[in-house]
Parts: sequence; C-alpha cells; structure tokens
Amino acid sequence: MKPVRLQPDTTYCMDIDQIIEKLLDARRVTILTGAGVSAASGVPTFRGQGGLWRQYRAEDLATPGAFARDPSLVWEWYGWRRELIASCRPNAAHEVIARWSRGFERCRVLTQNVDDLHARADTAGLVRLHGSIWELACWRGCGATWRDESVPLASSPPRCPRCGNLARPAVVWFGETLNPADLDAAFDACACDMFLTVGTSAIVHPAAGLVHEARRRGAFTAEINLDSTPASAHVDVALQGPAEQILAEIAARYESSPRDR
Ligand code: APR
Repeated sequence: MKPVRLQPDTTYCMDIDQIIEKLLDARRVTILTGAGVSAASGVPTFRGQGGLWRQYRAEDLATPGAFARDPSLVWEWYGWRRELIASCRPNAAHEVIARWSRGFERCRVLTQNVDDLHARADTAGLVRLHGSIWELACWRGCGATWRDESVPLASSPPRCPRCGNLARPAVVWFGETLNPADLDAAFDACACDMFLTVGTSAIVHPAAGLVHEARRRGAFTAEINLDSTPASAHVDVALQGPAEQILAEIAARYESSPRDR
C-alpha cells in the first residue's frame, strides 16, 4: 500500500488533543471498524482502490442471489480472500484497539470485518457484525455453523454435516439481516461516552447508522479514515489519514498521559 503522509497542521493537532482529552474522561468507549483497519495488514478493502475482484464488486457477489445463481463463483471469491487473509497479521490499528478494549471500564469493538484480525489481536468485547470468513453455515438454513480454516478452500462448496445441503460462508450478505443478538449489542454499545468510527466507508447499514445513534445519545463522536465519508460531516472530529498511524499516535500520547483526574 502506498504510504500516506500525514499533514500535522494546527487543526489536525487540535483534533488529536481533543480525542485524547475525551478518552481520558471516558468510561464507556465504542469503536466501530471497517475494512480500512485491515488495509495495512494487506486485506483488500471492498470499495476504492483495489476493491474489485476480476470485474466484480462486493455487491455483485456477497448476496444470496449471487450464491443461488453461481455458488462456485462466489465460493471462488471467498477462497481468494481466504488465501490473502491467511497470511495477514494484525497491524498497529488492531493492536491499539485491542489494548483499549481491555483498558476502559466498558469498551465494545463492533467490526464489519470478517477477517478475524481483531480476535487474533486479542480484542475484548468484540462483536463481529458481519460474521467470520473462517466459519461456514448451512445454505439451506438448518442452523448448522462450524469453524473451517482450510486454505486453500475446496474448489466447490462442501456439504453441511448436519443435513447434506450446500455449505456457505457464515457471513452476512447484502439483503440479509444481522444476527439479532449482535444488533442488540451494537445498539446497546451506542450508549457510550466516546464513539470512534475507523476505516469504514460508512455506507453499509445498519453499521453506518450507529455513529448517528451514538451521537443522538450524547456520545462524543470521531472518525478516522483515509477519505472523507458520509459520516465525516456529522462527527465531532474527523481525522483523515491511515488508521494504523493515527491510532498509534493517539495511543502513544493517551497512554503516557497522567491519570490524576
Ligand atoms: N486507514 C483508514 N482508512 C482506510 C485505510 C487506512 N489504512 N485504507 C482504506 N481506508 C478507508 C477507505 O478510504 C474506505 O473509506 O476504509 C474504507 C473502507 O471502506 P469499504 O471498503 O467500503 O469497507 P467497509 O466500510 O468495511 O464496508 C462495509 O460492505 O461489502 C460490505 O460486508 C462488507 O463489511 C463490508 C461492508
């Protein structure tokens, strides 16, 4: 990935200061993450540069309709993503988030990422809103889900061990509803002092609505993203740049700040 140079102008420095101030006073912190958090680990994002696989967009493949039409094509895409992710390691953004997840009185990490890099960084209070690429489920919905970390994937979907129908990735596709328990946990986590949205294009709902819900409930809201997003104009602070650098900078200053407050 091309390194992006941060421009530490006055506004940027004041925004960082404000986030640190708020973190020092916060008891309940919620962090929503998207594909941008894993970009520095080498996991391709869905939108923007490198977001396409062959000529397909995520919206063309990550749907029940696409799987019904051509299970092998969708399977092949997930096989390609698995092979990439298998060699990826958590980066500085995952590590900072993992440390914070254990450091506040209550911290929730809501991720749209299916790569499990937050879990591998030992993140506490993690809600995987869109599931995991390392799990499979029965396509016909008999209720079976199971862990399957094989790389490479078999060339076509295996069979459900319970009912014999096709298996599918246990991820939430466009047009599908999130696990109700995860959605409840996400909305509960909007009751917080500080809500950080990191590395997400903020266009896929319901995740994209959470920052607004948190703001409505009185949270201080901040965004860290390479580009500006539909959320940028609505948060208290929007920092543009690589999450792995900005979070590391905030963490270094926050973690060395005196706590006698
Ligand atoms: N640091 C911060 N932000 C980054 C970085 C980085 N190093 N690299 C990329 N980004 C930003 C991009 O500018 C973009 O705004 O991360 C965002 C990634 O956006 P998407 O690819 O749309 O990913 P995400 O928001 O997670 O997508 C949501 O859509 O396709 C579905 O289910 C899939 O969970 C996914 C959902």
